[in-house]
Amino acid sequence: MRIGQPGDSTAVDLDRIDLFTPSLYAAGDPHTLWKALRERAPVHRQLLPDGRAFWSVTRYHDVNEVLRDHTRFTSAKGTLLSILGTDDPAGGTMMAASDPPVHTALREPMGKMLSHRALRDRAPEIRAVVRRMTAPLLDGGVWDIAASAAAFPMAFTGTLMGLPERHWRRLTKLTTMAVAPSDAEFQEGGGESTLSVAHHELFAYFSDQVRARSGRPRPAADQEDLIDFLMRMEAGGRRLRHEEIVYNCYSLLLGANVTTPHAIAAMVLALIEHPDQYRRLLADPALIPGAVEEGLRWSSPANHFMRYAVRDLELGGRQIAAGDALVTWLGSANRDEEAFTDPYRFDVARRPNRHVAFGFGPHYCIGAPLARLSLGLLFEELTSLIEEFTVAGPIEHLESNFTAGIKHLPLTAVLRPGSAQRIERTVAATGPAPVLEPA
Ligand code: HEM
Repeated sequence: MRIGQPGDSTAVDLDRIDLFTPSLYAAGDPHTLWKALRERAPVHRQLLPDGRAFWSVTRYHDVNEVLRDHTRFTSAKGTLLSILGTDDPAGGTMMAASDPPVHTALREPMGKMLSHRALRDRAPEIRAVVRRMTAPLLDGGVWDIAASAAAFPMAFTGTLMGLPERHWRRLTKLTTMAVAPSDAEFQEGGGESTLSVAHHELFAYFSDQVRARSGRPRPAADQEDLIDFLMRMEAGGRRLRHEEIVYNCYSLLLGANVTTPHAIAAMVLALIEHPDQYRRLLADPALIPGAVEEGLRWSSPANHFMRYAVRDLELGGRQIAAGDALVTWLGSANRDEEAFTDPYRFDVARRPNRHVAFGFGPHYCIGAPLARLSLGLLFEELTSLIEEFTVAGPIEHLESNFTAGIKHLPLTAVLRPGSAQRIERTVAATGPAPVLEPA
């Protein structure tokens, strides 16, 4: 999705706004539409040609209100526009598609497994992955950082979940297919077929993983991976059922794979477009954690999350009927002039920066500690290795109404003194990183 200054919002015809069609996010400019909605219709109803409808919620405070209050806005019927109007089969079973108390019972133990404390020791592993990713820069060649970034989360979530490396490429592609089924580059058959292949293959894959582990002796607690943990953990006083484990594995993998890469690509592009901001990071690495937060606000990789109204209610001056779908546009909330000073300025030292890229309320991203850790390490490594980046080819955006993504960002870079030797040593020790190729 294009990220920059919005066009003329006063010229937008509200009756013609279409935030559903994925091609908008590949070739259009949602930021201009979101700005127009925030100004003139902050809670706006869109009717689709097939009769389905949803409310778009675009202001920061309304987005927070919807995400915060599960008693009025439920997640249990599904949270993604791609399944608008169909009850999510994982509703009430998968953490992301459930409400308290089921949600709380699932979330508490899983949160411990993904906490800062639990992840602390993984830093060296993630650093090595970053250096392996940068190997194409050694010969002064073009590096498609977006394609490499697509494989990045798999390289540590795969280990965390105990998934064999030979499966990573396919799993990466399947997760992209699940959120961008109409993007021709990732299609297998038409759009519907792509979505169905992605869902079936991912569920079958995790089902097999769980079955294979059932026949093995249980590992010691300090040896177990995330799937072992899900098989052992209790929620509401009982062990999880097979399908509950499978759905939550799916959700964890999807959560990591379809978001983190796009924060990377968009942030690198922002730093290329704002070289003064990159120079600030080079001069003062202590700015990196704040820069990551600004990168998250700027990119808002998860474009939206949806809820359904539990009862008749009012929001932003509009009457919402029980059962209506409401879509919170996180990218819009993160540019709301009432919540952020000069929101279209990319500022690595922005403070305060209470962005909603990880959501808000009970479903606040459970992977945020892992995402922050890996993005922080990635930008520490990139700034220590690279003096300057230049775009070296056409930038291509993902066709998805869920993931605000860049799928290709070819660049060349000037390495800092000593970087080539550091990258070479890592590649010699570990081999090149798995990159996304047709699988
Ligand atoms: C830059 C990276 C990421 C972004 C922008 C992001 C964004 C989000 C957002 C906005 C939500 C809230 C969903 C809602 O309100 O319905 C969420 C939830 C979630 N995320 Fe992330 N995420 C990221 C990384 C990750 C990672 C690395 C993982 C896995 C380890 C993950 C797994 C999940 C899960 C399982 C949920 C559901 C939590 C719940 O329902 O309580 N995410 N994420």
